[in-house]
Amino acid sequence: MEKGNRIVSGMRPTGPLHLGHYFGVLQSWADLQQSAECFFFIADWHALTTDYANPHAISEYSHEILLDWLAAGLDPQKSVFFQQSQIREHAELNLLLSMITPLGWLERNPTYKEVKQELEAKDLNTLGFLGYPVLQTADIIIYRADRVPVGEDQLPHLELSREITRRFNAFYGETFPEPKPLLTESSRLPGLDGRKMSKSYDNAVFLGDDPDSLQKKIKTMLTDTNRMRLKDPGDPKQCNLFPYLRLLDPQEPYQEIMEGCTGASRGCMDCKKLLFQKMEAFLEPIRNRRRELENDPDTVRDILRRGNEAARSEAGATMEQVRSRMSLI
Ligand code: TRP
Repeated sequence: MEKGNRIVSGMRPTGPLHLGHYFGVLQSWADLQQSAECFFFIADWHALTTDYANPHAISEYSHEILLDWLAAGLDPQKSVFFQQSQIREHAELNLLLSMITPLGWLERNPTYKEVKQELEAKDLNTLGFLGYPVLQTADIIIYRADRVPVGEDQLPHLELSREITRRFNAFYGETFPEPKPLLTESSRLPGLDGRKMSKSYDNAVFLGDDPDSLQKKIKTMLTDTNRMRLKDPGDPKQCNLFPYLRLLDPQEPYQEIMEGCTGASRGCMDCKKLLFQKMEAFLEPIRNRRRELENDPDTVRDILRRGNEAARSEAGATMEQVRSRMSLI
């Protein structure tokens, strides 16, 4: 694969994956693996920065997340999948980068302040949490990644990664490419209640949901909140359900729905029925693939083992060079 085309991205294993992950991240990862050299990893150390009191859950989700990735169409023939904590070289580079990272950069990081406020119930006055972007930088540059697919919320972290990388290169000589963010044109899918889809808001459709719970969830879904009665005209642009139909079947113009809704001849229940059909058609194959993988733990273990080996060998080679640049030999 030619130079300049390497991609690294990670996901924190903090829960089962839902449609928000699928349309926000997994779909673009699956596209990228057709044209770039991709490394995708389970960021279990990053999950520990906030969930350090609950390591068992992280370990469980680390296993589950790989099943979700594979079931959703990521391909171990094309991409390398690995687990961050199994590549100890990340920790070594994290340590070395921590030597040159000014505290002020970390303290000023807007994401740091926001998340700390959001998760007020957890004590995040830890070195590990403050250093989150340093570890993230190590994750990225240890593979000499050129581009990092991330959501908008991660842009401040990526900017820090670029600054830390420049500083390293200035001190010790040009070693790493500056990683560029690749803003995934993430199709934002609202949760069932219109807020951002999230496990903690209890408004998510999980990739593993069975038809029964799917039906229940769709029943409770918000549609166009201005439309109280069937004879009120609705507006698909204001509807919380319509984006789901759009994403599940982007080619379909939905002419009938547009007219039926704005003309008050079509009720929301009809859209819910249609959504159930389309969602079930979408989720069923994912669910089936996932079940096959669950029944074949050797294969899954093997995929991760091979991925870890490939990652370790890359990271090891980089660290040889880093140690030499920093006169640690
Ligand atoms: N911080 C990222 C997130 O919460 C996860 C992550 C950790 C990551 N290391 C990374 C993403 C390196 C991209 C590259 O989504």
